[in-house]
Amino acid sequence: MPLLATDMDHPAFDTSTGHPRTTTLPPCSLQQRVRSHYHAFWYHLGERLAWSRGIYRERPAQKLHDLSGVQYERIASLQRRFRVRFEQRATQTTALRQYDYLDLLNQGWSALRLPTSTGGTVQDIGSSNFWYAPVLHTFFRPAKLIGVEVEGHRIYINRYSRHDYAQGYIQDLPNTEFHIQDYRRYSSPADIITAWYPFVTPAPVLAWRLPLSLFSPQVLFSQVVHNLQPHGLFLMVNQGRDEASVAASWCSKVGMVPCGSCELRARLRPRLPAPTLSCWIRPPA
Ligand SMILES: C[S@@+](CC[C@H](N)C(=O)[O-])C[C@H]1O[C@@H](n2cnc3c(N)ncnc32)[C@H](O)[C@@H]1O
Repeated sequence: MPLLATDMDHPAFDTSTGHPRTTTLPPCSLQQRVRSHYHAFWYHLGERLAWSRGIYRERPAQKLHDLSGVQYERIASLQRRFRVRFEQRATQTTALRQYDYLDLLNQGWSALRLPTSTGGTVQDIGSSNFWYAPVLHTFFRPAKLIGVEVEGHRIYINRYSRHDYAQGYIQDLPNTEFHIQDYRRYSSPADIITAWYPFVTPAPVLAWRLPLSLFSPQVLFSQVVHNLQPHGLFLMVNQGRDEASVAASWCSKVGMVPCGSCELRARLRPRLPAPTLSCWIRPPA
């Protein structure tokens, strides 16, 4: 599995300890600390075991069924515009999620009038098992696509790991990689960096069964600034306006400059609060 060299000299890290320079955490209750230690145990065990059952390939649905009128129309329009058929490589559930992310990207891109993007390197932060790699590939047509996930060794009930799934999702995508790494230490230039639902408050970290030591948005976003090319764009999707405004304050703290945000309508998989997409550029030199 490809792992890039870390960049411990980066200002986001304390060179004496090699650990991220974390920001002050909000006060945690004793219960939260205990939960965090419990999750840390499993997280580090997963890292050490690095278990793999081999590549996991989904059984393609081939055809989507039981769609509502809105879903049918929206998907047909995305299929025409992007010439994709996610269901030919994924189950109905995954394909619907993929059309949903494509729809959100497409909406946000038009609302913010962002320029069409092709080529270049696209990085995605916190990719889970990278089930949406085909979406990013379809939308950005990048020269290189990289998903970076810190907990890539998480094991599912069928004993396949996130890494096994990711290998299945990216197998037909040219120049696409899945790296199991902490993005706070991931040093590599990118033209576009995406983050779908990054952790910007501590509660979701615990809800995702991860230790609070992984929560340091300021260090994470500093690394985005470090990796982003001068002309690059950082795109972030958050759950609702409140979370988006917390996320925006972290981005501003590291000097990123906003270049638009909008609320999106999740038409294919309706949910509240509505996702919010924001776009950022590097601080001026
Ligand atoms: C809320 S989940 C979103 C997952 C995925 N982006 C999606 O939209 O389905 C956040 C993800 O970020 C990952 N993550 C958290 N901190 C990270 C870090 N420092 N580097 C890389 N991944 C990280 C978590 O393990 C988790 O998979």
